[in-house]
Amino acid sequence: MKFLRNWDNKTWLSSKNYIKNYCKFLRSKCNLNKNSRLLDIGCGRANIISYLHKNIKFNQKPIGVDIIKNRNLKRNIIFKKSDAIKFLRNNKSNFDLIIIKQTIHFFSEKKLKILLNLILNRLNPKGKLIIFSLKTKNNQIPCFRKMKFKLDAGLKRDEKLLKFINRYLKKTKISKFSYKVNISKKDYIKMLKLRYISCLLNLSEKELTKGISELNLHYKNRIKFTNTLKCISYKK
Ligand SMILES: C[S@@+](CC[C@H](N)C(=O)[O-])C[C@H]1O[C@@H](n2cnc3c(N)ncnc32)[C@H](O)[C@@H]1O
Repeated sequence: MKFLRNWDNKTWLSSKNYIKNYCKFLRSKCNLNKNSRLLDIGCGRANIISYLHKNIKFNQKPIGVDIIKNRNLKRNIIFKKSDAIKFLRNNKSNFDLIIIKQTIHFFSEKKLKILLNLILNRLNPKGKLIIFSLKTKNNQIPCFRKMKFKLDAGLKRDEKLLKFINRYLKKTKISKFSYKVNISKKDYIKMLKLRYISCLLNLSEKELTKGISELNLHYKNRIKFTNTLKCISYKK
């Protein structure tokens, strides 16, 4: 399995404005206070739980789990380098909020079922599980042709996973988080070169270079689009 290392490595996804807006949205979906216990599954550099901890000052530090430990990982949280399923099997703490943001596509349906079961057992009464995933229809992520092909195939698979999650959890609420991205083409090309998104992981160097030239021709100096995530919220 190829690892995703540059997702939130100095991209708009780690920008102050994005994290602030995302956390505002997240807080509108759940009641967080100093006593809340948080777990972020597939936390990346832990920007989200770090921001929440800075603002809410939880009595217990939030926990972030990720299969890889990235450079520039936030330090004011507890980080566990582990597969999420392994972590939940071994850690017996309970949580008031479990977040899974843009990570479900790394799991097969079978593994996702195991993960959801473990999560349901680790949620406190009235605890919430909030899952975010890229909107599957009319996605605006700027792509070159080959990238778009891979992204669409991934989004089709995500759609099935999201349907499965809704069926499995039953009493879910669906909403959307949208963020307007305005990025220089130069910076976006840097992100592409670093293979910031999963659909780029398996492209060859040649395919990536060709794709970047294609994107360079199609976009002006600034790239503007709306990044929309589907949000599934479950309350125990
Ligand atoms: C697209 S990134 C999202 C990071 C973060 N949630 C965010 O939205 O900024 C997906 C993350 O899931 C992690 N991941 C993938 N499979 C995992 C697993 N089995 N257990 C824990 N983390 C995993 C990856 O290493 C990566 O950091």
